Amino acid sequence: MNFTIDHQLAHRSVRAFQNRPLSDDELDTLLAVARQTATSMGMQCSGIVRVTDQALKDRLAAIGCQKSLALTPEVWVFIVDTARNRAILDERAASSAVPESLGAFLDGFTDACLMAQNVVNAAESMGLGTVYYGCINCDAQAVIDALKLPALTFPVVGLGIGHPAQDPAKKPRMPMELRVSENAYERPESWSEALKDYDAEVAAYYGTRNEGRDRETFTSQVVAMQSDFWGKRSEVAQVIARQGFGSDAS
Ligand SMILES: Cc1cc2nc3c(=O)[nH]c(=O)nc-3n(C[C@H](O)[C@H](O)[C@H](O)COP(=O)(O)O)c2cc1C
Repeated sequence: MNFTIDHQLAHRSVRAFQNRPLSDDELDTLLAVARQTATSMGMQCSGIVRVTDQALKDRLAAIGCQKSLALTPEVWVFIVDTARNRAILDERAASSAVPESLGAFLDGFTDACLMAQNVVNAAESMGLGTVYYGCINCDAQAVIDALKLPALTFPVVGLGIGHPAQDPAKKPRMPMELRVSENAYERPESWSEALKDYDAEVAAYYGTRNEGRDRETFTSQVVAMQSDFWGKRSEVAQVIARQGFGSDAS
């Protein structure tokens, strides 16, 4: 164990923050960490839109149906950005369809996720709290419009950062042997059976946290949350195409 691992193993999302901004030092540190994140082929096709305007925060909170987003001191939206490479290619009159490809989109998407998690690790090590706001992509087009994201960009995930105003318990995860295979994909005969003990652990976790949720299990959440799309998530493939990605997909 070391300091980094202690913090990673203590991870839990924080959804209530003190009403004070990050200091300039804290901000600079988190941006420096984001900058130094590994990036596919060195192309740096991810970026951040810092949402500092309260009306915009309110808009994202409404899009994501998550009121607490509006009260979050720092809200960052991590984006795919291959528009820069398209412009550089054009400026050099170099013919290429790469920035529009699904592969470039996936590279940028992966870069954005790595950048976000690097920021989370750094923020938590600084005593800050974080929460991802994937909820904003209930309507990706509305986020694109709100943040004026041009073609060849796409919002991947939001992240809230601030000084915690709560100290939530760690949420249990299923045993890693159910998520790790060796050499070839493995699966149990019955997931419901394999997850029985974990289901009981999740029910106990919710029982202590939220009254009335003690019958909620992991498998019941899968059924409740995966039975249908939320918001306009069913339209995300069309939104990605409208942003100019995947010209090579058909
Ligand atoms: C991609 C992604 C999107 C998420 N979106 C939301 C969200 O919109 N709102 C929210 O409150 N939490 C969100 N979360 C946080 C998860 O709910 C949380 O990580 C999970 O329940 C495990 O809890 P823990 O982080 O406290 O361990 C998101 C997490 C990830 C990785």
